[in-house]
Amino acid sequence: MERVGMMNNSSNGQSLWHSSSQSPKTPTTMLDRALSSRRPHSDADLPDSGESGTDESKTKRPHVYLLASNFVSRIGHQWLPCLIIALLFLVLLFLTSLAFHSSSFVCVSRFDPAARIGFFGFDGLESDFGALGVPWCRSKHGKEVEWTSKDLLKALEEFVPIYETRPIKNNMHGMGFDHSFGLWFMARWLKPELMIESGAFKGHSTWVMRQAMPDTPIISLTPRHPEKYLKKGPAYVDGNCTYFAGKDFVDFGSVDWKNVLKKHGVKDLNRVLVFFDDHQNELKRIKQALKAGFQHLIFEDNYDTGTGDHYSLRQICDQSYIKGGGHSCFKDSDEARIRSNRKKFWEKAVDTEELCGPGETWWGVRGEMRDDFNHSNTQISYNQHFQNSRYVESILDVYWELPPVAGPSLTHQSRYDPARSTPPVVADGRRRLFQRIGLGRLDKSVFNGYTQMYWKILSSSVFMVVGTMAERWTNTALLVIDMQNDFIEEGSVTQVKGGKAIVPNVIRVVELARQRGVLVVWDKRFLLSVLKVVREHDPQGRDVEIFRRHHYRSEKVGPVVKGTLGSKLVDGLNIREEEDYKIVKTRFSAFFGTHLHSFLQTSGFTKLVIAGVQTPNCIRQTVFDAVELDYPDVTVIVDATAAATPEIHTANILDMRNIGVKTPTLHEWSEEFA
Ligand SMILES: C[S@@+](CC[C@H](N)C(=O)[O-])C[C@H]1O[C@@H](n2cnc3c(N)ncnc32)[C@H](O)[C@@H]1O
Repeated sequence: MERVGMMNNSSNGQSLWHSSSQSPKTPTTMLDRALSSRRPHSDADLPDSGESGTDESKTKRPHVYLLASNFVSRIGHQWLPCLIIALLFLVLLFLTSLAFHSSSFVCVSRFDPAARIGFFGFDGLESDFGALGVPWCRSKHGKEVEWTSKDLLKALEEFVPIYETRPIKNNMHGMGFDHSFGLWFMARWLKPELMIESGAFKGHSTWVMRQAMPDTPIISLTPRHPEKYLKKGPAYVDGNCTYFAGKDFVDFGSVDWKNVLKKHGVKDLNRVLVFFDDHQNELKRIKQALKAGFQHLIFEDNYDTGTGDHYSLRQICDQSYIKGGGHSCFKDSDEARIRSNRKKFWEKAVDTEELCGPGETWWGVRGEMRDDFNHSNTQISYNQHFQNSRYVESILDVYWELPPVAGPSLTHQSRYDPARSTPPVVADGRRRLFQRIGLGRLDKSVFNGYTQMYWKILSSSVFMVVGTMAERWTNTALLVIDMQNDFIEEGSVTQVKGGKAIVPNVIRVVELARQRGVLVVWDKRFLLSVLKVVREHDPQGRDVEIFRRHHYRSEKVGPVVKGTLGSKLVDGLNIREEEDYKIVKTRFSAFFGTHLHSFLQTSGFTKLVIAGVQTPNCIRQTVFDAVELDYPDVTVIVDATAAATPEIHTANILDMRNIGVKTPTLHEWSEEFA
């Protein structure tokens, strides 16, 4: 939850929206003003136009007709010209009114720009703003959640009566209805074995999780124990919860999770749900969660770019190359105009003043990576921000944002900008549905504070790459050389004796490179980080080195003949046909007679990492060529390459080291980024 209770500045804790809906006073927020001219003063006065939508603006028309007829009666003696003018005026008014309301106040949807124009109508503002889009983190492989909007709707109906029994009725500075619902829904759906929360405040979110999973243990990390709040008013302390609170407080990142989980008998980390509502930099939390091995994370506050007190996923994934990212910080730009117009209607809209920092920085909040309730902020460069998003997307299996439960006109919200959120579960205008599922019974103030809560699944066994270190991996290509059956498996005339032993290491190198590769070459999606360099020879050996041609003269199939089992990669080396690039060579060097150099050059790869067999021939020759061709950074993973004997291997590695080639072990290579 956002701490600053913009909607809630009345002393009795009731929201302005609440008080304004109680009595027909002067509207108090910009949205209030915008909508109050178009709606009756209280909900009870609203005609129920059914689920197809309520055109509340129609209530304004009688005043217009009244004014027109008064005008005609006052100027009765010049009746003919005046009547014509009045008629023209009425026609004009009618047409304007049609333009305003014909698409009605219904179903505002991110995917329905036409409806949005109808929603705002004012100056094409909405269609303009739509072009600015919504930042969205991309899940790998396009995975999505299994629940549907129908499931959400059904669950909403179930949740309303549960929510009505909450012990903390006024949870200002804590979760409102939307996020309580989201947390309850996801916990119930995912059925975790253990739930962990970071940031409990008075215990409302603990209570929500308990409602979802009555018997599941909870671990709660929060600096102040919720029982402390009991002295002053309602709070919730759970009987099946281990609190790391008060003097026992430990920050999530410092908990010895291995030990704690062992104590709780948790074996499968995939069955643990971690809920963060602690306003810490989400990148930091993701790295900590990954390190501990957690996969299911829910973050309560997913602030939009330019808003909030910590670096959120939305901010991280807001990038210049996506629609909605790369914001313009020019004061005279279209974006600045649109933003400033929207600010009049939605408190959550940010204008360029708020969005942009020094030097036209726009990512995060004014170019800052915020942390710890805005207490610790760091200015980051666009490049760092960019690397952060590449990193996050490389480990993201599923990313799902909870939509607002109901449209802003139903909940009287001004705290989220509908143009920058997912379509509500109960779309705007569906008043009858809103009432039917019981949402109408709730105080309007509980709908405030929606900030795009989200759930994500992280990939398991992900290699951590930290911030700027990731930059080292830009423009890097891994060359996996000759890891084919005929060079590795016993019984082949071309078997390299030490080859079999390095297979697991080569597999690991590929895994790591792939994880980093996603990160480092993502911006050039069409490029690939793993290059398989293989031999594929003519059955008669006409393209093989002369000294080997005799292998092809017998009845037997020669080594690595194209299409044979011997030419296939060894088992376990999971090269992805569709993803990884293949270079076929017929000589030792991967550069000789191939287009490797041209490929690397034109694709922007300058750094090479090499694994495979065998050290004195193909590895060495490729490495020497790379050095001769002025590749500035060549690495040979010393235990992911092999020769017939350790002595040959060591001597050749020494030669390569002597010409400036890096020769780390696999462990050293991976440790660089641990
Ligand atoms: C917005 S409130 C949480 C609201 C609560 N989840 C609810 O729904 O009512 C944020 C909480 O995070 C706590 N907090 C601050 N720093 C923290 C940290 N490093 N780890 C865990 N909680 C922290 C604050 O003390 C506060 O109780």
